[in-house]
Amino acid sequence: MAQDESSAVDPQKATAARSVREGRWNLAVPVFLIGFMGAGKTSVAQQLAVTRGLMSVDADEYLELREDRVIADIFAEEGEEAFRRMETEVLRDLAGRVPRLIGCGGGAPLREENCRIMHDAGFVVYLEVTADEAAARIPNTVSRPLFKDLDTARHTIVERMPKYEAAADAKVSTMGRTVPEIADEVADILERAGVLSRMAAR
Ligand code: S3P
Repeated sequence: MAQDESSAVDPQKATAARSVREGRWNLAVPVFLIGFMGAGKTSVAQQLAVTRGLMSVDADEYLELREDRVIADIFAEEGEEAFRRMETEVLRDLAGRVPRLIGCGGGAPLREENCRIMHDAGFVVYLEVTADEAAARIPNTVSRPLFKDLDTARHTIVERMPKYEAAADAKVSTMGRTVPEIADEVADILERAGVLSRMAAR
């Protein structure tokens, strides 16, 4: 997934200019971006945050800050189950805060409890990707203990697909598309759903 030239513009200046010209954007409820590792959840959340002046957070980064450890260490020291418990706590915490874009970890919809938290609090967008394209986008899989290798990733995606589908309010394909293209489609969906709206210009 390549960034196109529009992302080379100084994003803060562009956002400020746009906010003044067109009015600010507002999220009515938290928006959870879900999907497999490498789907672009973090990049798309950041792109939307920058172009629409919205708040965004990466749930994994938030968890790492809270725990003062990287995810690979949490897996190595305490195992996946412990990580999943922390992930649920983080999702519950973020779901109760001021609405923002939330890039979720790829395994977030594996727990029913997480799906309930996301569904009850906000709007869930599933970013679809194949294992092959995800592998091409992820430069280093060491930080993602569950990516392992391409064959494992292919199986894991197939296994998880029904959970992603069931958890989602909307689905967006990311295949062969740039981050700004995907972000624009997500924004259109959110606008149509009444989740994203423009406040009056100053
Ligand atoms: C995981 C995905 C990772 C991270 C953890 C587990 C998964 O997040 O939460 O390594 O089970 O798919 P990203 O999807 O942001 O890489």
